[in-house]
Amino acid sequence: MPDFYLTIPLALYVHVPWCVRKCPYCDFNSHEAHGSLPERAYVDALLADVEQDLPRVWGRRIDSVFIGGGTPSLLSAEALDRLLSGLRARLPLRPDLEITLEANPGAVEQGRFAEFRAAGINRLSIGVQSFNDEHLQKLGRIHDRRAAFAAAEAAHAAGLDNFNLDLMFGLPGQTEVQALADIANALALQPAHLSYYQLTIEPNTRFHQSPPTLPNEDVVDAIQERAQAELAEHGYPRYEVSAYAPENRRCRHNLNYWEFADYLGIGAGAHGKLTDLAAGHIHRLWKLKHPQDYLARAGTPDGIGGDALMQKTDLPVEFLMNALRLVDGVPATLFEERTGLPLTVLEPTLNRVKERGLLETDPDRLQPTETGLRFLNDLLQEFM
Ligand SMILES: C[S@@+](CC[C@H](N)C(=O)[O-])C[C@H]1O[C@@H](n2cnc3c(N)ncnc32)[C@H](O)[C@@H]1O
Ligand code: SF4
Repeated sequence: MPDFYLTIPLALYVHVPWCVRKCPYCDFNSHEAHGSLPERAYVDALLADVEQDLPRVWGRRIDSVFIGGGTPSLLSAEALDRLLSGLRARLPLRPDLEITLEANPGAVEQGRFAEFRAAGINRLSIGVQSFNDEHLQKLGRIHDRRAAFAAAEAAHAAGLDNFNLDLMFGLPGQTEVQALADIANALALQPAHLSYYQLTIEPNTRFHQSPPTLPNEDVVDAIQERAQAELAEHGYPRYEVSAYAPENRRCRHNLNYWEFADYLGIGAGAHGKLTDLAAGHIHRLWKLKHPQDYLARAGTPDGIGGDALMQKTDLPVEFLMNALRLVDGVPATLFEERTGLPLTVLEPTLNRVKERGLLETDPDRLQPTETGLRFLNDLLQEFM
């Protein structure tokens, strides 16, 4: 195995598939928890799962851990402690690694953040979505504006200043003024990072069956533009399609995805991507999706939901789909480092998109122009 391979960063994603209530817009692998969570059995399953993956990543070190969901803040600090201790015992973790936990206001009791921190969590991602009670209700959230403020304040009180707030815009009936009020409220809480997503209507959701009335495109564009300017002015420049933060607070775990590095995925429905440049391929692997099936089979060959080799012909677009989400793009050399393909395979198309003004002309970088970022799908289409 070439040393080269060992230099591709490796992250770990852990999925927790339960929520108090399913939100009408959500198509993530999340299920309503009826009664208490089988957390002991689930942590056992996660550890068995990671153990089964170990031979695929011998000698490689984990740079970040992200515990997402679902609502992982429904787990007790004890369960998280057992999970993180179990991971440390099985995998070499980088000493100063980022360990993020997604936490929902309304699904985290007061005081729990300090226990989470003691268990090893050093970053939170708090799913606020909005600070407007009417919008929170339309989104089917279990929390109100007060609980959103309380969660961010509790994070500071626990010494977890490194937290992200998830906000959405383009909400049912939302005006520009209301969206900007959400931004002002978020800024007042001094988060380290902000994720700002346009609400999309996904198949297999209740919003898809009975769609709410959303603001028109002009309003949504105006919101995005004003919010972006407001955030930049307050020290949170946009660095990815939906992510805003000072440079030293960027999310390392997500950067790993956008830079097309590798990751292990454990938990119900979790996906992994692993490179084997020696064999000349990139491998995708996913786990059984339904929590009950996963609980019964994790760690056995039957716990693997599926597995596929990525075709060489798909690699350029897969790489660019991630890398071109970054406002600054990536060094051009990263293409070969991550895909094993020479940059020349892109050349005719690169020239064309540069001429169309979708990509910056700097030969040393692959970087979208402002227009390229705005019409990212058009840009990617050119490489398909
Ligand atoms: C993995 S999800 C859920 C995290 C957490 N359970 C929560 O709801 O707070 C991460 C984020 O994706 C965003 N999201 C989920 N569904 C979305 C949709 N249909 N459109 C836009 N953003 C969405 C939300 O901001 C959410 O906080
Ligand atoms: S709480 Fe988060 S993961 Fe759960 S249903 Fe709502 S948006 Fe989806």
